[in-house]
Amino acid sequence: KERQILVTSALPYANGPIHIGHMVEYIQTDIWVRFMRNSNHEVLSFCADDAHGAPIMMKADELKIKPTDFIDQMKKDHQDSLKKFGIEYTNYHSTHSNENEKLVSEIFLDAKNSGHIYKEDVEQCFDEEKKMFLADRYVTGDCPKCGAENQYGDGCDSCGATYSATEIINPKSSLSGTKPITKISEHIFFDLKKSKSNLKKFLKTASIQDSVVGKLSEWLESGLKDWCFTRDEPYFGFEVPGSQKKYYYVWFDAPIGYIAATSEWCQKNSRSLSEFWKDPGCEIYHNIGKDIIYFHSLFWPAMLKSADFTLPSEIMVHGMLTVGGEKLSKSKGTFINARTYLDFLSPDYLRYYFACKLTDSSADLDLSWDDFLSRVNSDLVGKITNLASRGVQMLAKHFDSELGSFDEEGKKLLLKTQNAHETIANYYEKRQFAKAMLLIRELVDDANKYFDTYEPWKLVKEDKEAVHKILTSIVH
Ligand code: 2FM
Ligand code: ZN
Repeated sequence: KERQILVTSALPYANGPIHIGHMVEYIQTDIWVRFMRNSNHEVLSFCADDAHGAPIMMKADELKIKPTDFIDQMKKDHQDSLKKFGIEYTNYHSTHSNENEKLVSEIFLDAKNSGHIYKEDVEQCFDEEKKMFLADRYVTGDCPKCGAENQYGDGCDSCGATYSATEIINPKSSLSGTKPITKISEHIFFDLKKSKSNLKKFLKTASIQDSVVGKLSEWLESGLKDWCFTRDEPYFGFEVPGSQKKYYYVWFDAPIGYIAATSEWCQKNSRSLSEFWKDPGCEIYHNIGKDIIYFHSLFWPAMLKSADFTLPSEIMVHGMLTVGGEKLSKSKGTFINARTYLDFLSPDYLRYYFACKLTDSSADLDLSWDDFLSRVNSDLVGKITNLASRGVQMLAKHFDSELGSFDEEGKKLLLKTQNAHETIANYYEKRQFAKAMLLIRELVDDANKYFDTYEPWKLVKEDKEAVHKILTSIVH
């Protein structure tokens, strides 16, 4: 064992199935994990269902089942999709678990004891018919700045203003259609301002893409806002111990799910959790999409630090997937569930296609079906798989699958491939999969040329020995 590495993918919400947008990240993680394991490091990978929050509670309500039954079904469904794509985690857990509840209260208490927590009254919209406080997205009305109608409670699509739902004109609850009242409730805050110097240090020491560092520095400089991480009942989540029916907001316990997944695995495998989360010798890598940078690069390290856990060594941010240049949207037919994809196409095609597209940048990536078709047909099938299968088949037919010796050209080809090994390995480690694929394709092109020039399928009648050499080089 060389290095000890812990890798995570962002936890999918248990409110819907896995779709191809998610797959970018799971495939990216899986390729990297497989590569790092082959390089003899101890690599543990963790993921879990993100099982809490109001949307999940309401979906279960609609279906007239218990939220716990709903999330159990979802988890099975998620795990099944992942498995079919060849994606395996060391452990796949749930944020609605004993391990997570225990860790959440441990981290909360540690943060409290280290002075990072305070309480404050908050004014919020309250739906009197549904008897619940409304999250900003459940309130609509007119923009207080420009007057545009039918805007969401947190911001205006028309003029770009941001505000809080209590400021909106002619507010309407999207749950009951009634006019919400304003009501005060006491909530718990994480004092992010106190973490400023630690976060600055984190930005310097962790490995984070330049574009992301730029964004973070901007947030840090423009002033950090403290974070309200509790919600009123009804809420599907963990109740804050000693509070008056306050629940941890889903984003508080979600990243702690990374640790909970590790913890469950540690218990089953007689390992100690502190070996991974309290020992700086273990490198922690989070793979995330660029939509959740704020949570992972500000709140999360601040939480970890306040409770004395190890901070991530790297946050790897990928871009969002578009399909044919369009965002994933149900009405445009670009929102494709993993299952639907699998009904028609092989998972390996998508793995290969994303590998061809993935770089270490957080730029968006596009799935174009024409491009997909040509990469799969001409590269993956036509060049890579075909070469291997022709070589192996001929070797079996004419030489009993026995390898022989090389000819000069074959030796050169092999040497070139061996020399490329280090470069390819480096690309993999740096998550430059697109570059690795390009180089591999070039090597395969050379091999195909060599094979086709000698036409071994004809030559085999005249010079069997020469053909044996060619096939040996190709199969090697
Ligand atoms: O954005 C999402 O889909 C969240 N469910 C990701 C959570 S990642 C982690 F923090 F748990
Ligand atoms: Zn406006």
